[in-house]
Amino acid sequence: MLLDVKNLNTYYGDSHVLQDMSLTIAEGEIVALLGRNGMGKTTTMKSIIGLVKPKSGRVIYQGKDFTGREPYQVAKAGIGYVPEERRIFPNLSVLDNLKMGIKAGRAGKVQSKNRWDLDRIYEHFPVLKERSAQKGGTLSGGEQQMLAICRTLMGNPELLLVDEPTEGLSPILVKEVRDMLDDINKAGVPILLVEHNLKVAMSLASRVYLMGKAHLGFSGTVEELDANPEIRAKYLEV
Ligand SMILES: Nc1ncnc2c1ncn2[C@@H]1O[C@H](COP(=O)(O)OP(=O)(O)O)[C@@H](O)[C@H]1O
Ligand SMILES: [Mg+2]
Repeated sequence: MLLDVKNLNTYYGDSHVLQDMSLTIAEGEIVALLGRNGMGKTTTMKSIIGLVKPKSGRVIYQGKDFTGREPYQVAKAGIGYVPEERRIFPNLSVLDNLKMGIKAGRAGKVQSKNRWDLDRIYEHFPVLKERSAQKGGTLSGGEQQMLAICRTLMGNPELLLVDEPTEGLSPILVKEVRDMLDDINKAGVPILLVEHNLKVAMSLASRVYLMGKAHLGFSGTVEELDANPEIRAKYLEV
């Protein structure tokens, strides 16, 4: 198992926002983490990468215990994170934004076929090449999301966590970002995807986890979820 998250309990003050939350990700997979607003999806990601410290439970990545480590240590070990608020640098050029994502020493840790650099990113996502001299802040919402994801790719992650990448995008841009994640995964990077667009999530992922309030409600294959309208109604539809 690439990532094994076991029985996380995370609090904000007295509020117990993750209760025995568990999930796994294997090599090559796209796994979707779904649920209504406020259930704890972002907190699950933040607990994995060390932005919040779980009170108990384990985050095992590549067989090593990363529970409670600092975000830079987790990033250095190869987990890339694209937060919900795509934090690009609006006054830096696209090129400089991408360079900000380089993580010293990471390139040597991944197989050359999985290695990302500027040339490979520009080849996969030519719009960023066209816009490389433009300031990040002048890009469209979809292009900014693309830039945020590619900046994380520049760190050569072996696992990508992406939180709500299609939020606020027009349907055409939703499709672009969807295809981009598909492309990245086919290039060898496993992905944990939090996504409110069920269609997008189901078209990308092989397995899904559904969260109820603070806890895991369902886990199974996309086919199982597809065949189970009661589960969808319980955990997804408003
Ligand atoms: N920094 C914080 N301080 C206190 N409570 C928070 C904080 N961030 C999130 N919460 C609460 O934790 C719960 C889970 O939030 P979150 O993980 O962001 O949910 P989701 O990503 O599924 O919408 C919610 O009830 C939310 O209000
Ligand atoms: Mg969230």
